[in-house]
Amino acid sequence: MPDSFALLWMTLAALLGLLALALGLRVRRQTARLAQQAMELREARRQEALGTLAGGIAHDFNNILGSILGFGVLLEEDLTAAPEQQEMARQITAAARRGQHIVGQLMSYSRRNMQDSLQLRQPVSLDGIIRESLALLAPCIRKSTRLAYQNRAARDVIEANATQISQALVNLCLNADYAIGLRTGTIDITLDNLCVDVPYGEPDRIILSGGEDAGSTVTLINGRLHSGHYIRIRISDDGEGMTRETAERIFDPFFTTKDVGVGTGLGLPALQGIVHAQGGAITVTTTRYRGTVFELLFPAEVPHAA
Ligand SMILES: Nc1ncnc2c1ncn2[C@@H]1O[C@H](COP(=O)(O)OP(=O)(O)O)[C@@H](O)[C@H]1O
Ligand SMILES: [Mg+2]
Repeated sequence: MPDSFALLWMTLAALLGLLALALGLRVRRQTARLAQQAMELREARRQEALGTLAGGIAHDFNNILGSILGFGVLLEEDLTAAPEQQEMARQITAAARRGQHIVGQLMSYSRRNMQDSLQLRQPVSLDGIIRESLALLAPCIRKSTRLAYQNRAARDVIEANATQISQALVNLCLNADYAIGLRTGTIDITLDNLCVDVPYGEPDRIILSGGEDAGSTVTLINGRLHSGHYIRIRISDDGEGMTRETAERIFDPFFTTKDVGVGTGLGLPALQGIVHAQGGAITVTTTRYRGTVFELLFPAEVPHAA
């Protein structure tokens, strides 16, 4: 009899032990999830603060550059009799224009400007924007880089600010060209329609997978994907790709792996601002030494069934 009591107690103790273990695991999992959420929230706040700051500075700088450019142009016109000085004035206006380009990217990134520019939205054809951007790009791309474009979209119209989308595309292609470097390479652009099915709700802001070892592929999603129809612009290059450390930071404002004076680190943060304002998302897939694919996903308004 005492033996069966002991057995009962032992079984009970073992069961309790198992229960405690299971509870402990659950608590640990919940804590990890909460810590992850807290980190994402801090990151979102940090980005927002940076965006506000950048927007404010960009606005003031834009005014300053505006007057440098304005007076520079006047000087340029006045100095026809003194070609040497006129050339100097031309250098001033060229530098001011480069400054305006950078400030434009900063403003695209900042939220305040994003809201202003939402008012400039019009129905635009993405096919048209891509073709215009390619025409702009052609002279800036290395001779050894081939640019190819294919339109497979049945629908390609979204309500957007065409200039901003074009700037973002130009930056993506210049990044791709830079990643290809002096080798011979190809930038492939495709436009198509896509039906997204998100079975377990919306994914997180940024999901990173892979990339622990050299040569493996890193993927990330920036933005929220909902179930529904999307118009997709895919830009792929066979350039040098990115390490996981680089991929993790590409949407951080001012992050660049390029030399001072070559990169500003504002192209992709600006792209993020533009795509998020459309309610869209960006996916990035990159393999070191193999290449990179950017996908811009814009929600499509589904035409009403007849
Ligand atoms: N297609 C690409 N291939 C490899 N790396 C890329 C690519 N596009 C972007 N990157 C990385 O992301 C960084 C940030 O890009 P971006 O925001 O456009 O700023 P910038 O071009 O001024 O450096 C680049 O410096 C580069 O390290
Ligand atoms: Mg860039």
